[in-house]
Amino acid sequence: MKKIILLWCAAAALFAVGCRSSVGYEIRDGVLVFDEPQRAPGQASVLGLAADPIPVVRVGFIGLGMRGPSAVERFAYLDGVEIVALCDLYPERVEASQQILARHGLPAAAEYSGEEGWRELCRRDDIDLVYVCTPWQQHVPMAVYAMEQGRHVAVEVPAAASLAECWQLVDTAERTRRHCMMLENCVYDFFELTTLNMAQQGLFGEILEAEGSYIHNLEPYWDYYQGNWRLDFNREHRGDVYATHGLGPVCQLLDIHRGDRMTRLVAMDTPSVNGAKLAREKMGAETFANGDHTLTLVQTARGKVIHLQHNVYTPRPYDRMYALTGTEGYACKYPIEGYAFRPAQLAAAEVPDHENLNEHAFVPDEVREALMARYAHPIARDIAEKAREVGGHGGMDFIMDYRLIYCLRNGLPLDQDVYDAAEWSCIGALTAASLERNSMPVAVPDFTRGAWNEVQGYRHAMAE
Ligand SMILES: NC(=O)c1ccc[n+]([C@@H]2O[C@H](COP(=O)([O-])OP(=O)(O)OC[C@H]3O[C@@H](n4cnc5c(N)ncnc54)[C@H](O)[C@@H]3O)[C@@H](O)[C@H]2O)c1
Repeated sequence: MKKIILLWCAAAALFAVGCRSSVGYEIRDGVLVFDEPQRAPGQASVLGLAADPIPVVRVGFIGLGMRGPSAVERFAYLDGVEIVALCDLYPERVEASQQILARHGLPAAAEYSGEEGWRELCRRDDIDLVYVCTPWQQHVPMAVYAMEQGRHVAVEVPAAASLAECWQLVDTAERTRRHCMMLENCVYDFFELTTLNMAQQGLFGEILEAEGSYIHNLEPYWDYYQGNWRLDFNREHRGDVYATHGLGPVCQLLDIHRGDRMTRLVAMDTPSVNGAKLAREKMGAETFANGDHTLTLVQTARGKVIHLQHNVYTPRPYDRMYALTGTEGYACKYPIEGYAFRPAQLAAAEVPDHENLNEHAFVPDEVREALMARYAHPIARDIAEKAREVGGHGGMDFIMDYRLIYCLRNGLPLDQDVYDAAEWSCIGALTAASLERNSMPVAVPDFTRGAWNEVQGYRHAMAE
C-alpha cells in the first residue's frame, strides 16, 4: 500500500511539472485559445525599456558551432565592445574562436566549456551582454539564467521553442528589467530595411498583405549540427518551426504590437517525404513530425493578412519570400528584387524616366536602384560600406550587431524587444496546434498583455 501511495505521489509530481511547462487552452467560437497568464506581482511591462548607457559593452558568447564564431568575428570589428568570455561544450571550439581574437590583435577572453560552463560565464559580474548561439532547446534556459544574473541577453532565432518558453522569456525580462533581444538578422537586410523605410514614408499606401518564409534546403548542413539537435527537433515537431526570418520583417512593416497585432492563424502542411527519409537514414527514425512544406496564414487585428512558409527539405532555391502588397504599390525580393507603383506616384520621387513606367510591371532596374539609393534606411546609411566589408549574409548580420551595441551604448530601447521575440517565436507552437486539429484557427497570444496599441508605428531608436 505504502509503495502504491509513493508511486502515486511521484506520478502526481511529474504531472505537475509537466503542466507547468505547457499552457492550457480552450476552444472559443471555433478558435483554439491558449491561456494568457496574468502578470505576476512585482513585474511590469518592458515596452520601450531603456537601460542605463553602457559606454563599453562587455560581452560573453555561448555556443561556438557553425554560427557563433562568425558573431565573434563581427564583434571584433565593432567599436565600444570588449569580448570578455567564450564558451562552448567543446574546449577546442572555444580555442578556435580565441584565435579569431588573436588575429584581430584583441586580448584573450576567459574560456568556459562543458555542459554547465555557460552558467559560470553568466555569473561573471564583468559581463553586460550574453550572446547565445546554441541549439534551440537551450535558448530559453540560457537566456533566463543570464537575465536572472543581471545580464542583458541576445539570443539566436527562434528565441523560444514552445509557448510556455515564450511566456518565460517575457516574464523574466519584465521581472529583471533586462533586455532580451532575439538576433533576427533578416530585418537588417538592405532590401528589407530600404523597403521598410519606403513603407514608413507611405510609398506603398496602406499595406494589406505581406509574405515571408524560410525555404532553404539544409541537406549540406544536417551532418554538422552538434548532436543532431536540429533534425531531432524537427522529427518531434510539426509546424513552422523556423518562422522568424520571414515573419520579422513583415511584423516591422505591419507595426505589430505598435498599433496592430497578430490575432489568429491557420496552418497546413504536406506529408513529410524527404524529412522522413532523411531521419530514417540518419537516425533510424520511423516517424517524422515536420511536414516537408508548411504554409500558414495569419490575420491581424486591423484585418491584414500574413502568409508564411517553411521548407528545409527540398531542392529549391533559397527563398525568404519577402513581399508586400499595398494599396499604392508592391515590393518583392525573391526570386528577383522588384517594386511596382503607379507611374504618377514616382513623379515626386526624382527617379529617372518615370513617364515611361506602367503599373503592370516592375519598375526598370535603374529606377529601382535610384529608389533604393534615395530611401536607404538611415540606420544603415553610415555603416553600409563597413557592413558589406565585414559581411555576414551580405552585411545584415553586422548591421544587427552594430545596432544592438549602438542602442546599449546610448541607453536606447533595442530594435527588437522581448515581445517581438515571443511573438515571432510562438509561431512554431501555434502552427503545430492548428495542424494537429485539422487546420483549426488558433489565437495568437498578446504577450504585451493589452499594451499592443500603446505605441503607434515601428521606429528604430536614434541618439539625439
Ligand atoms: N540568424 C541566422 O542567420 C542563423 C544562421 C545559422 C544558425 N542560426 C541559429 O544559431 C544557433 C546555433 O546554430 P548552429 O548552426 O551554429 O548550430 P551548431 O550545432 O553548429 O552550434 C551550436 C553550438 O552550441 C554548442 N553547445 C551546445 N550545448 C552547449 C552548452 N550546454 N554550453 C555551451 N555550448 C553548447 C555546441 O557545442 C555547438 O558548438 C541556432 O539557434 C540557429 O537557429 C541562426
